[in-house]
Amino acid sequence: SSSLRILGIETSCDETAASVVVRHPDGQGEIVSDVVLSQLEEHSAFGGVVPEIAARAHVEALDGLIEEALTRAGVTLADVDAIAATSGPGLIGGLLVGLMTGKAIARASGKPLYAVNHLEGHALTARLTDGLSFPYLMLLVSGGHTQLVLVKGVGDYERWGTTIDDALGEAFDKTAKLLGLPYPGGPAVEKAACMGDATRFDFPRPLVGESRLDFSFSGLKTAVRQAATAIQPLTEQDIADICASFQRAISRTLKDRIGRGLARFSERFPDLPEPALVVAGGVAANLVLRSTLEELCRDHRFRFIAPPLRLCTDNAAMIAWAGLERMAAGMPDDPLAVAPRSRWP
Ligand code: KG4
Ligand code: ZN
Repeated sequence: SSSLRILGIETSCDETAASVVVRHPDGQGEIVSDVVLSQLEEHSAFGGVVPEIAARAHVEALDGLIEEALTRAGVTLADVDAIAATSGPGLIGGLLVGLMTGKAIARASGKPLYAVNHLEGHALTARLTDGLSFPYLMLLVSGGHTQLVLVKGVGDYERWGTTIDDALGEAFDKTAKLLGLPYPGGPAVEKAACMGDATRFDFPRPLVGESRLDFSFSGLKTAVRQAATAIQPLTEQDIADICASFQRAISRTLKDRIGRGLARFSERFPDLPEPALVVAGGVAANLVLRSTLEELCRDHRFRFIAPPLRLCTDNAAMIAWAGLERMAAGMPDDPLAVAPRSRWP
């Protein structure tokens, strides 16, 4: 068999992205081009993503980005074997823009279309970057998702844990807002925490000790609000201490939750020579979180895999790769039948 080349399109949130990825006959993937346009500036004045603004920005940017991805890859549409576009979950306006564009290209060119679940894109990225084999565990921590997933195969997943309230990135963003730090909150909280005393506040660590593997972060946010309103005015040192204590609470929660997940995985697959935990999503940029997971993996004798940051956050290479994986598994979609889905677990 020969190499397969695919064009990937991602528009589910506030990044417009296009990418060309090749799957070589030995199953190895290669990112040939990968362009991402962040809409951060359009949304930052509002302190979060505004769906209508996002959809319009995707409309304006997508055609140009697809052209750029093809040009950078040194190919034209005629040279790609298939199209992959995110069809959910996400903001419906953006999904419509990307999926309809993918459908149109597929119909006009007679090439197959792969309508990709955004979460599957995150879940399969480690196979592109590290050639990882199934099964493995994946922790997805972004602004919209907090999930611990057993990845058994292409299209074959078990969700072991999810948040019962806020996503982890959301907890960072809300905490930042409460403290008057800029959006997006994650990087701002992490930076402020560097100068802080992580032991000053004893914030709650919800669900610690429970055997189910879910997460909860809204109580933590409430505790932060109470601490912040009890001290007025807040000095820079107070903010730093709150941020550091907040990260410490999260680190302890994850240690407990993920630790149980690793143990469960080992029970389920006792003979796997190299069990692995993959982290994905924007919060994977956080160094406290990374070192917590690294340490945990060392203790449990797991490989810890953190794909390069630009592949942890939203991008089209992961959508292209998921399309290639489904292509290799013979799972195409009917371009006239697929519809975008804002919710798609
Ligand atoms: O995956 P992502 O880029 O977008 C989606 O949510 O789909 O993740 C963005 C989230 C935001 O909530 C942001 O605050 C958080 O990731 N984030 C961080 C850091 N960098 C980004 N959270 C904690 N520490 C960071 N360094
Ligand atoms: Zn994402």
